[in-house]
Amino acid sequence: MNELSLFLPCAAGVEDFLAQEVHALTGRVGQDLLSARGGVRVRAGWRDALKLNLHSRLAQRVLIEVAHAPYRSENDLYAIAGGVAWEVWFTPKQTFKIETTAQHSPLQSLNFATLRIKDAIADRFRAKAGGVRPSIETQWPDVRVFAHLTTEFCTLYIDTSGEPLFKRGWRQDKGDAPLKETLAAAMLAASGWWNPETGEVSPQPLYDPCCGSGTIAIEAAQIATGIAAGSSRRFGFEKLLPFQSHVWAALKAEAAPRADRRPTPVFGSDVSHRMVDFAERNAERAGVAQAVQFRGGDALQRMPPAESGVIVLNPPYGERIEVGGVARGRAGPSGAPARGREEAQTEDGGEFFVQLASHWKKNYAGWTAWVLTPDMQLPKRMRLKESRRVPMWNGPIECRLFRFDMVAGSARERAPAPQPQPQP
Ligand SMILES: C[S@@+](CC[C@H](N)C(=O)[O-])C[C@H]1O[C@@H](n2cnc3c(N)ncnc32)[C@H](O)[C@@H]1O
Repeated sequence: MNELSLFLPCAAGVEDFLAQEVHALTGRVGQDLLSARGGVRVRAGWRDALKLNLHSRLAQRVLIEVAHAPYRSENDLYAIAGGVAWEVWFTPKQTFKIETTAQHSPLQSLNFATLRIKDAIADRFRAKAGGVRPSIETQWPDVRVFAHLTTEFCTLYIDTSGEPLFKRGWRQDKGDAPLKETLAAAMLAASGWWNPETGEVSPQPLYDPCCGSGTIAIEAAQIATGIAAGSSRRFGFEKLLPFQSHVWAALKAEAAPRADRRPTPVFGSDVSHRMVDFAERNAERAGVAQAVQFRGGDALQRMPPAESGVIVLNPPYGERIEVGGVARGRAGPSGAPARGREEAQTEDGGEFFVQLASHWKKNYAGWTAWVLTPDMQLPKRMRLKESRRVPMWNGPIECRLFRFDMVAGSARERAPAPQPQPQP
């Protein structure tokens, strides 16, 4: 259990930040720690696997690789899965589930591939445990097995996380489009406010003026106060055979936040008072009610909560999230009354974003704003020149995290009719 091959999947674009975080948590370097597409591979021990689950803010799961071999047919998959010592990990009295993903697999049916892997696991247990075999449970399995098929190779993993790690355990109240906690953490890392390599946090106050259920602010407040990401949830490894409760208890005790830490101030606000209520309740459950301050209010009117700082937000966009506040219900460019979200999408660049930019230019000199959006034309719409653009994925949606520097007196304003920009 001291030299396992772990794979931590993450959102595309987050690999390097995750590698820094894994390095900080395990101390592994060089060939023992490799960034791959969509995740990080690390050679580390069982205790490290537990520690990564408890602390990682960027990984989706922590998987242990148990087989990696070439295959051409479903029968090969049966042989590969049958050769794994599953009895080291779980018992035939437990339930399990297999999730198969594939990239250019030559096989016709992923369902059939999954079935053959399941048969191999069941047959191995039947042979080793006097005819007893574990049963399948698709909703709440005790154990999850992941199979990944490429053109030539099959890789099998046993999962140690259970529910995906973005589920931190504190969110019960959410809006229509909550950000995944892992993406919120990636935004904080990309902005430089949080350094996943050192665990350090900028002394600059952090503010999300469209905070919704509070994901970015709560994630930031937990980082600032030193509360481990997984401190209020359960994990899949608790049901695996190598699990020892005293090892886990010691890891959790080591992770207790230091009382002497003076956290950086964190603020959130939202035009919807219902959302502010949700955010406050979530912060309470996350143990950061004292470390983050939520307020109601329109992002177009709220004044800065501190002299300077860092704004990080994913503003309203798309079908599901309407713009509220003063930009809602004003006349559109045609003179007809505009309706909420549609106004944010108007031809002239969007009333909401134009007003947000001028509010920031006027009142937020000295602040840096990081805005996550799928709208590649956002800087043009805001008539601001971005100083950075970081590619990020919000689930299947390709986004950019744009950085805007609010320079005192002369914001870096665009010409009124800018030319379209080439996209990376
Ligand atoms: C995409 S959601 C943000 C989700 C949030 N990051 C979370 O994880 O829950 C956008 C938020 O902007 C808020 N909003 C819309 N118009 C606003 C305005 N004028 N001022 C402040 N907040 C606004 C909405 O109420 C919504 O909660």
